[in-house]
Amino acid sequence: MNRKGIILAGGTGTRLHPSTISVSKQLMPVFDKPMIYYPLSTLMQAGIRDILIITTPEDNAAFKKLLGNGKSWGINIQYAEQPRPEGIAQALIIAEDFLEQCPSALILGDNLFFGGQMLNSLRASVDQIRGATIFAYQVSNPSDYGVVEFNEKGKAVSLVEKPEQPASNYAVTGLYFYDAQAPAYAKSIKPSSRNELEITDLNRIYLEQGMLDVQRLDGGATWLDTGTHRSLHAASQFVSVLENRQGIRICCPEVEAFKQSWISKDELAALAQPLIKSGYGAFLLKVAQSGKA
Ligand code: DAU
Repeated sequence: MNRKGIILAGGTGTRLHPSTISVSKQLMPVFDKPMIYYPLSTLMQAGIRDILIITTPEDNAAFKKLLGNGKSWGINIQYAEQPRPEGIAQALIIAEDFLEQCPSALILGDNLFFGGQMLNSLRASVDQIRGATIFAYQVSNPSDYGVVEFNEKGKAVSLVEKPEQPASNYAVTGLYFYDAQAPAYAKSIKPSSRNELEITDLNRIYLEQGMLDVQRLDGGATWLDTGTHRSLHAASQFVSVLENRQGIRICCPEVEAFKQSWISKDELAALAQPLIKSGYGAFLLKVAQSGKA
């Protein structure tokens, strides 16, 4: 069965107030494109074409205006609402009907992944139908994240959400591949002290069953999150420096659709036209004309 994607793009964005009082955080720009383009591109790179976007009830219309039903990008986008931010694992429960017993890939709408190694890891994980796969990335501030501990053989042995004394520097990123059991497991989780269904508790169920694959993203991959004004600015700078240096644009869903042969050269050129003035469209046109991304 084909794996389906879920982008969780709700939450209150309080750490970005006042910028996010009237605009969803995941619609804010990261340099030259809305934040949600990045996780959407990651799912598309994994070959995933059926995608559910979960938003707050207030922001749903704005996401629909931006992304529509995905048809012109060769994908199928559906929408659901999360009335209150009751935890990342709740996304699996909200998505249960959409998933129709298929395996899933859940990605947080504020997580940016980039790099060649990423592609290989994504492709390997997408084919794994049983169990779960999560990704660990070395950071200087592990206490801000879910943290994974490895034993001397490199096997994951513990998972703790925002530990005061982290057992390693490996943070769990906001990209999770699950088998068809995940919605049922999510329903079995009890809310944490902060009253959320914790994604770390879901991952721990898989860990305890020996069904959790933890892939370390080293060297060839970059993971950024955008939770604060400083990290959002850093992510924008990262994208700006990279794109300017190489004369490319990264994580454009239109280009990912073209690379996957979900849309033709002509269709890509047509998508470029209304965007030409921003330079984003000019890049799409260049890719359409050269046939290379
Ligand atoms: O970024 C990776 C980290 O994400 C993981 O290492 C942690 O294990 C995981 O708990 C999560 O930690 P955060 O503290 O970053 O989670 P936060 O509450 O900021 O939510 C992350 C994104 O998900 C944010 O853009 C809002 C969205 N969200 C969150 C919750 C709890 C929702 O849409 N609904 C929710 O109920």
